[in-house]
Order: sequence, then C-alpha cells, then structure tokens
Amino acid sequence: MRKLADGTEIPLIGLGVWQVGDGRECEDAVRWALEAGYRHIDTAQVYGNEDSVGRAIKDSGVPREDIYITTKFNPSRRDPAAELEGSLKRLGVDAVDLYLVHWPAGGPTRAWAGMQQSLERGLARSIGVSNFNVDEIAAVLALGGPAPVVNQIQFSPFEYRRTLQDVSERHNIAVEAYSPLGTGRHLGDRALAAIAERVGRTPAQVLIRWSLQRGLIVLPKSVHQERIVQNLDVFGFELSDDDLAALDALDRTGGTGIAHEHPWW
Ligand code: A2P
Repeated sequence: MRKLADGTEIPLIGLGVWQVGDGRECEDAVRWALEAGYRHIDTAQVYGNEDSVGRAIKDSGVPREDIYITTKFNPSRRDPAAELEGSLKRLGVDAVDLYLVHWPAGGPTRAWAGMQQSLERGLARSIGVSNFNVDEIAAVLALGGPAPVVNQIQFSPFEYRRTLQDVSERHNIAVEAYSPLGTGRHLGDRALAAIAERVGRTPAQVLIRWSLQRGLIVLPKSVHQERIVQNLDVFGFELSDDDLAALDALDRTGGTGIAHEHPWW
C-alpha cells in the first residue's frame, strides 16, 4: 500500500482492464485477479466494461471496502460528476476510490471543477489525472482547490518518463504506470530476457518489479489466469542496483516530460 497526498491508501499493483472485452473475458479476468489476491482494479468509462467489472466484484464475495476501484472520466463528455453517476450504477458501488480525467481533451483544466465536485459529493474518494504532461499538471494545480493525487501515464523502462515522474512527485502526485509491459511488446527484449533469466523470473515480473522499485503504482493487464497470478507474484525478489540501471538504460524517450505516445488525442 502507498499513502496518497489526501491520506488515502492505494494497493501498489492493480489489474488493468484496458482492451479487455466486456462480458465473460472481463468478468473472468477480474474474478481471477481477486482470487489471486489483487485488491485494485483499474477501469474507465471508455473501456466499456464497467458493468463486467462490477459484476465480477459482486460475485467474488470480496467485501467492497477491501477493493480499490479506479475509473476515468471520458473527456469527450461534458460533466464529470454526471458521468461518474453512470459509472457508479454500472459498477454497482456508492463511490469509486479514484476518479481520473482520462486525457486532457479540450485543455487540461476543462474538467477539473467537475472532478472536484465529484470529490465533494462523495462520489469519488480521490481524484487525479491521466496522460497529463508537465505543463498540463501545472495548469491544473494553478486552479487551486483539491489537487490531483495521481497521474496515470504510460511507463516502463522503455518509456522511462523521468522528468514527468519527478515533477509529479514534487507536487505529491503519485505516478501510476499503465502498459508496464509495453502492451506486451517489451517482453521479447533481449536485455530484459537476460536479466529475467539471471534472477529466475519472467520478463513480465522483472518489468513489474522495476516499476515498484522505481516508486510507481503498476497496472499490468492480462486476461490469462496464470499470467494474472504471475504478475502479482513479485514481492519475493529484488532487482539489484545494477539490474535497475541496466533496465533504466532501455529508455527510448530521453526521460521526457511527455505523458504518452498515442497520436489519437
Ligand atoms: P494477455 O492479456 O493475452 O494475457 P500491458 O500491461 O503493458 O498493457 O501488457 C499487456 C499485454 O501483455 C497483454 O497482451 C497480455 O496478454 C500480455 N501479458 C500480460 N502479462 C503477461 C505475462 N506475465 N507474460 C506474458 N504476457 C503477458
């Protein structure tokens, strides 16, 4: 668990359900994760699978208060609090633990008053942003009032956005890593494979462990039970300083303050 700037606590590993199909696939993944011991699920309005996440949580028998649930505001909509009410219905809960602006559509400050309203109305216990760069974070902070406690960005040794992490942390904004395995693309890297072999773990476990040791909250995605189990089994080993440095050197972003590589927003 990590304590966020607003005093709440967040589990360090969460199951990401981006690109997990609504229905059976998503329900299975969430159920397997909860059975494996995950207590943190990360979804979003645009993923279209909040219903399935909610159903799996309910069916799991794990008490609601033991599970950390994140969803994200679809910024092509107008009103964050109204959209969150829809999410809460689909998820079958009274409040989410964390509500993020999914990306800074229409400008970084456009949604923030509505996010603060969601917090004040008790619909979300914490609020934050996703895919915000250094300037966009500064713009939100300049608004005053409750600040974001999380910035969720694409992060891995291959996208080691050091500047953005440093600036976020300086403002007490915890960084969450999405696509920590490069959506699977990084798992075949030879340098990574060599480290994984040496420490007797899989490449996925090494990347997740790197994220933890670099101070991130990490959100690996999988729809396969054995991988879901494997991705949480990362607390029984440690990467050495040399291994961490070798992984750091895989960065292709130049430590940039840019938040993502997606051209579509
Ligand atoms: P799948 O969902 O079919 O299991 P990221 O978390 O960076 O988005 O990466 C997710 C991708 O990596 C998915 O394609 C997922 O495949 C794959 N993946 C997740 N965990 C593992 C693992 N432990 N071993 C191999 N591939 C994995």
